[in-house]
Amino acid sequence: MPDDKVKKEIDKLVEEINQHNYRYYVLDDPEISDAEYDRLFDRLAELEKKHPELKRPDSPTQRVGAEPAEKFNSVKHSVPMLSLGKCNTEEEFDDFVRRCNDELAGDADKIEYHVEPKFDGLAVELVYKNGILEIGSTRGNGVTGEEITENLKTVRTIPLKLRAEKPPKLLEVRGEVIMHKDDFEKMNKKREEEALDLFANPRNAAAGSLRQLDPKITASRPLRFFAYGIGLIEGESFEKLGDALEYVEECGFIISDESEINDDPENIKKKYYALLDQRTDVQYDMDGAVIKVNSFRQQSKMGELSRSPRWATAWKFPPAEETTKVEDIFVQVGRTGIITPVAALKPVRVSGVEVRRASLHNEDELRKKDIRIGDTVVIRRAGDVIPEVVKAVKSKRSGDEKEFEMPDKCPVCGQPATRLEGEAYYRCTNIACPAQVKERIIHFASKSGVDIDGLGDKLIEQMVEKDLINTPADLYSLKKYDVLKLERMADKSAQNIIDAIDASRKPELRQLIHALGIRNVGEHLADVLASYFGSLENLMQADYDELSEINEVGPTIADSIVNFFKNDQNKKMIERLKEGGMKFPTVEKKQAFTPLEGQTFVLTGSLSNYSRRQAKEALEKLGAKVTSSVSKKTDHVVVGADPGSKYDKARKLDIDIMDENKFEEFLKKYERKQ
Ligand code: IVH
Repeated sequence: MPDDKVKKEIDKLVEEINQHNYRYYVLDDPEISDAEYDRLFDRLAELEKKHPELKRPDSPTQRVGAEPAEKFNSVKHSVPMLSLGKCNTEEEFDDFVRRCNDELAGDADKIEYHVEPKFDGLAVELVYKNGILEIGSTRGNGVTGEEITENLKTVRTIPLKLRAEKPPKLLEVRGEVIMHKDDFEKMNKKREEEALDLFANPRNAAAGSLRQLDPKITASRPLRFFAYGIGLIEGESFEKLGDALEYVEECGFIISDESEINDDPENIKKKYYALLDQRTDVQYDMDGAVIKVNSFRQQSKMGELSRSPRWATAWKFPPAEETTKVEDIFVQVGRTGIITPVAALKPVRVSGVEVRRASLHNEDELRKKDIRIGDTVVIRRAGDVIPEVVKAVKSKRSGDEKEFEMPDKCPVCGQPATRLEGEAYYRCTNIACPAQVKERIIHFASKSGVDIDGLGDKLIEQMVEKDLINTPADLYSLKKYDVLKLERMADKSAQNIIDAIDASRKPELRQLIHALGIRNVGEHLADVLASYFGSLENLMQADYDELSEINEVGPTIADSIVNFFKNDQNKKMIERLKEGGMKFPTVEKKQAFTPLEGQTFVLTGSLSNYSRRQAKEALEKLGAKVTSSVSKKTDHVVVGADPGSKYDKARKLDIDIMDENKFEEFLKKYERKQ
């Protein structure tokens, strides 16, 4: 066939299939049978195979074509992807409205609000140049994210080409990738049958699926996309968010059919409660309503705070609660030997997810809440947090309920369990306890550790039981025939595990530090330590005083880092990691901009535009120290609404007092200089 004829046929097929995709996935209204669709698709694939030079970037075959990536590159968002200030109550929402009214007092137009669900998924940005999807990325830290274009192309509700006669030169579409509750459960059921680790909730499943290096895996996951905003746009312009989103919808995206625009805050409240009512009925997880000022002009007039715009707020739903029965109480041993009491529950669904267990935290909590075996209890699940038992419904007691005693022996290794003075926890004192060993390795291999893809809890458990591994370092001497000894392992899957272990030999420094499992060193701190010390060797040599110089490091943390690297077993393990071929990376030490170095702040009362944590982080980023009590050493006290006694003390000691406005001005001054 001559080339121009082939080209014509390819063009026709691409248009046709894309149109059917749109009808099927976006409009949920297919026109042709699956068999007919497959026939068109196969014909296109065949032609493209013969004439690869005629393959179009918006061809539907491009959704699943790409080869696995080595790693994700980072991309800078042209406009930062901000986060949202929150409100939890109607009063706090009233405050938001008041602020909008104050700041827009005298504006020619009445304020309209755009309200829609807050989707609980993963925020991404899609960049379309001349109508073609060029780059897709995660939100990341808001300024830079990870480039996951190939993975996003596999999401059928993301158009590869905009449905516009004359597409704009540039359009950045922002929104949330989510998984429907039904799809999530189906997928987890299948994973259970295949002895794979289960995802905790649809959001984790969506996030985990997008962070796959192999787009074919992402393609096999039922992901969807809701558009809720735009970034840069050239070649089109809109005055209002609602209009921009309508345009985005015309271009082939799904926007929420629950969105509403209204200038009466009372109606916005009604909408919030209506959404709250529907929360369990809709197919996606929503954790609140997002309310934004609709006019872009008014938005810019109001401006932004350091991380979130003043013109928008997320009015969160209260955490979902359910009532069920405690069938038993047992204990679990964690990676540091902490023994946690856990309630085994009569299975119950809380906001779309089945809950069978809930943490009782520690003995004191258990006593305080007086939870007994057989009790009817209220449990709560907030976002991705492990469900917890809120309280026992004492009126439902029959008298047969049994109190639970914490064991004095570790349930796994039988060695003594003790509760140290000043600690709320019982700990197993045996560092070689298989439960601890297993948890340490699980932590090491996890996504936030060195990220060994496919090596889940169940496999690690078997490896420890079969005595194949005792420390994370043992992973690096595993051979394929070792892995083949495990249940349900075939040649290919065993090779995949070995390959994934191999790939983890080059972790990032922050991953490596976190993976070691130093007590009190979480992901954030590992990141801080990585950029402060630049290498594991430097960190290992740091003494208590040097560590204490870091803002985020207090005495407990400094102690636990020093003790970790003093421990012979840990030293040996690190040595063996090296011998096993692990590369210990170095990073350039960050020259942090720390103009507030040496200044001490205390926060009191509630600020309207910042949570306590946000305010603390903003100050610490600039090098300030934030402490909890006012003393002569305090330089500034930031005072919000309803301040406590700290305010009086600050006045007594004549310490500089900042109200929220002054505080914001203060932060802004430095942010501009940065
Ligand atoms: S608007 C400045 N709209 O919430 C505007 N965000 O806390 C920021 N999110 O990272 C985004 N549903 O992941 C917006 N309807 C919605 C949303 C939404 C969920 C998430 C998004 C963002 C986070 C901000």
